[in-house]
Amino acid sequence: MTAAERERMIARRILENCMANGLPAAVAVARLAVNLKTEIHAAELADLALDMRANASHCKGWLENIAVLLSGKADAFDNLRSTAASVCHDRQGDETGEMTVRRLAGGFDEAVAISAAASVQLSSLGDEEKLSATTAEIVSWLERQDFTGADETILDIGCGIGRFEGALHARAKHIVGIDISSRMIAVARRRCAGLGNVEFRQTSGLDLAEFADAGFDSVLAVDSFPYLVLAGVAERHFSEMARVLRPGGMAAILNYSYRMSPAADSSDIRHLARIYGMDLVIDGEMPFRHWDGTAFLIRSTGGT
Ligand SMILES: C[S@@+](CC[C@H](N)C(=O)[O-])C[C@H]1O[C@@H](n2cnc3c(N)ncnc32)[C@H](O)[C@@H]1O
Repeated sequence: MTAAERERMIARRILENCMANGLPAAVAVARLAVNLKTEIHAAELADLALDMRANASHCKGWLENIAVLLSGKADAFDNLRSTAASVCHDRQGDETGEMTVRRLAGGFDEAVAISAAASVQLSSLGDEEKLSATTAEIVSWLERQDFTGADETILDIGCGIGRFEGALHARAKHIVGIDISSRMIAVARRRCAGLGNVEFRQTSGLDLAEFADAGFDSVLAVDSFPYLVLAGVAERHFSEMARVLRPGGMAAILNYSYRMSPAADSSDIRHLARIYGMDLVIDGEMPFRHWDGTAFLIRSTGGT
């Protein structure tokens, strides 16, 4: 089998899997960008999606949508691939946690320079409007969980380009966004310039040592825990979240890991919540229409 044939086979499997799981077309395109190298181009992938209609008439519209997202957009798809390739999701041989965090910071520095929107959510396909739609969906989910409020002080771990600070600042008293990538922090500061109750800090990524006990009402972590898990600092952050949250405060973890095992994620979070005195309120739901994120909501015990 040639490399191009292998890529086509992988592409077909990705599309079949996304179809079977009812995932949004943009998520499928993002998965193609992550998993395919350069042997197969956007136009060929669009044709492959259209060919697949013959055996998947129930998903005809979905496959046609994939083709629309890909055809005539070779540059956008190549950018997406480059953005994805900037951040390596494997832990390398003898890397310590600190080294992994430093490597990831460099990767995200590179990724955000290629595409701000894709660097924080690949399934935005680099499109700010698509990113805003997912951000709005996540924000309304947070509001339904009583996560926001005029008296709330929020810590956002792995804030990236500051999209949640921008979206939540009017619904919170103060928001602190932290990230390991200096370029992410620079972009976040630029995008949120003039928002008086928003603050960004570049941190070590190893712990939350610079924050006081019980200083926050809520902790948000959208797509950042997978990198904490990768670097081996997830448990440390769990214990730190329990420390910096006030009693009764909530942590929303959207995506815990990229292991593709909902059962393993749920089991780890249950275990960590128990050890660090927190209650798991939402356990691995997928409540979003535009995004395939998995939601966990944890409440610090001892309050109301
Ligand atoms: C996929 S992006 C998501 C950004 C943002 N939460 C969003 O959804 O728009 C992941 C972010 O986590 C940051 N990150 C990775 N490891 C981190 C760590 N140990 N501590 C803080 N941030 C980290 C990355 O630099 C990157 O900005």
